[in-house]
Amino acid sequence: MTETRFVVGVTGASGIPIAIRTVEALAEHGAVHTVVTDAAESVMAHESGSREATMDRLQEASAELYGESEVGAPIASGSFDTDGMVIVPASMNTVAAVATGRSDSLVTRAADVTLKERRRLVVVPRETPLSQIHLENLTKLAELGVDVVPPVLGFYFDPEDPDDFVDHIVGKILERFGLDHDCYDAWNPD
Ligand SMILES: Cc1cc2nc3c(=O)[nH]c(=O)nc-3n(C[C@H](O)[C@H](O)[C@H](O)COP(=O)(O)O)c2cc1C
Repeated sequence: MTETRFVVGVTGASGIPIAIRTVEALAEHGAVHTVVTDAAESVMAHESGSREATMDRLQEASAELYGESEVGAPIASGSFDTDGMVIVPASMNTVAAVATGRSDSLVTRAADVTLKERRRLVVVPRETPLSQIHLENLTKLAELGVDVVPPVLGFYFDPEDPDDFVDHIVGKILERFGLDHDCYDAWNPD
């Protein structure tokens, strides 16, 4: 593979601003193939302005933008090589599907492919509080080698507005791929 490629799955949990910024930040390092579930499109209507504006921003930053039903897309096949996948935000529905090998949408199929090809999979689960079912599914993913990066608040980098919290999580995601970023200042004891 000569081109650096990432897959991003955007699912129907709160946190669409994190998804937008993740796609934009990854696009600085390679081609981003983005998949948006139907539920994510519904959540967009409640977060980040409007569904149309959010989809336009994702389209702009992505090499390709897919809907969940497009299971014939290249990213549904293991022979389409990638540097890995992020699911951000990851709904508990999608977490459960990936943890149990269900691949009935392009997001879950692409995640299943990422696991079977032993590529990096980063999941940004968003729900609170977490039930035992959620925790068991996330534990299963961790046991499979998935990087579980919950969007939890940090205060050690002097956040001034909500965008700083978003960028902090985006930086944490990029670090899972070994990518440089200036999303936040790493903690310095001095
Ligand atoms: C405004 C809104 C916010 C939601 N937030 C969450 C959430 O934070 N976490 C979650 O697991 N589900 C959340 N849901 C429910 C999911 O969208 C729902 O379970 C859906 O079936 C997920 O489908 P998907 O995994 O295919 O995207 C939310 C739904 C709406 C409409």
